[in-house]
Amino acid sequence: MFLSVRHDTDMSKRALKIDDLAEEFLRCPDRHGTGSEKWDRYLDRSSSTGKEILPLWVADMDFQSPDVVLDAIRRRTDHGVFGYTHDTPEFAQSLTNHLHEQHNWQINPSWVIGVPGIVTGLSITARLLSQPGDGILTLSPIYPPFLFLPKLAERKSVPVPMHADASAQRWTIDWEALEAAMTPDVKIFWLCHPHNPTGAVFTRSELLRIAELCERHQVTVVSDEIWDDLILDDDVQHIPFASLDHPAAQRSITFVAASKTWNIAGLGCAAAIVPNEHLRKQWRQAGGGLVPMVNPLGYAASEAAWKDGDPWRKKLLDVLHYNKQMAVDAVEKIQDVSCIPPQATYLLWVDCTEWITHRPPGQNHPQKTCEAAGIGLSNGADFGSPNFLRLNFGCPPALLQEGLKRLQNAFE
Ligand SMILES: Cc1ncc(COP(=O)(O)O)c(C=O)c1O
Repeated sequence: MFLSVRHDTDMSKRALKIDDLAEEFLRCPDRHGTGSEKWDRYLDRSSSTGKEILPLWVADMDFQSPDVVLDAIRRRTDHGVFGYTHDTPEFAQSLTNHLHEQHNWQINPSWVIGVPGIVTGLSITARLLSQPGDGILTLSPIYPPFLFLPKLAERKSVPVPMHADASAQRWTIDWEALEAAMTPDVKIFWLCHPHNPTGAVFTRSELLRIAELCERHQVTVVSDEIWDDLILDDDVQHIPFASLDHPAAQRSITFVAASKTWNIAGLGCAAAIVPNEHLRKQWRQAGGGLVPMVNPLGYAASEAAWKDGDPWRKKLLDVLHYNKQMAVDAVEKIQDVSCIPPQATYLLWVDCTEWITHRPPGQNHPQKTCEAAGIGLSNGADFGSPNFLRLNFGCPPALLQEGLKRLQNAFE
């Protein structure tokens, strides 16, 4: 069954019109009853108007994966044997080709290790590259596991706040704060590039400056590049940290996955790229016997996405462009609420600081206010910034339009 909401087509002033978007992105399957984390959150709650709360929070999209991916999964299930599976012969090679074609980064396929998820992979790096009590740096606000995983591994999280540069319309690094945070006990920098939740894509000069600092302080960069194929700004290019010509880049570890771009997060498949042979040998042991193998369908889907998924990705980018513009325009119309348009991802990081200060205590919780108005967003507090909300615009434009109407009602 397909969910379809009528879309009002008064968007013609934009470069991209609704008619320019591929049909398959204008609708989505009903995800109720599929165990969807996103849609199940509000199953037993409704808004103050009695309507279902539209979930625009956790970072998966509502679109079906492309046929090339679905067909690869079907071929694999037709085979019918799902025994213990390690990295398939095509996995590393298809990723290697993809990274070269998309990001001009030449890796050696032998550097690739399949992991059942990047969150798992980050936890492995904490144990591989540091000792209990050591610090793990990150730039905040940040995808929540970056803040809570260190504690689970008996390490310390060291968040360094980023700045919203309103004139440049992007989020930037506070270099003095970053260097000050590089105390001798800090051993790892978990970089999120492109950055969730701000959507910032770091430039070559920013990456080189990070490399310089990390080299000077003997910190290892672990770069989570899960969003690398969803660059929204035409004048922005993703540069893999490890592709820099710098010693800190050569000893870094990178994570990538097909999961965000081709909407297959539930298939539990990602890749660690570990150029250092010694670290690769210690990888499995650092998992402490807790890390399962990647499942065969995850491999099949990821390989197909990297090999044949680019035409679909380009059509997806049109929709995300369109949705981003719609979301940014809607937020601009709300008094005391603002945002910096993301350069990448399908996430909008919404600043409610002014709105909070103008509201009486007890009536100034942005997430609860939105839920009452029928839209479910991520709470900025989980990312280290309680005054913010994160909105996921990876859904059909009609659904987003309805969500944005509710967002505007929420703050009125
Ligand atoms: C930056 C970042 N890293 C990792 C993940 C999750 O990756 P995985 O599902 O492979 O653990 C997400 C999901 O939103 C993310 O935004």
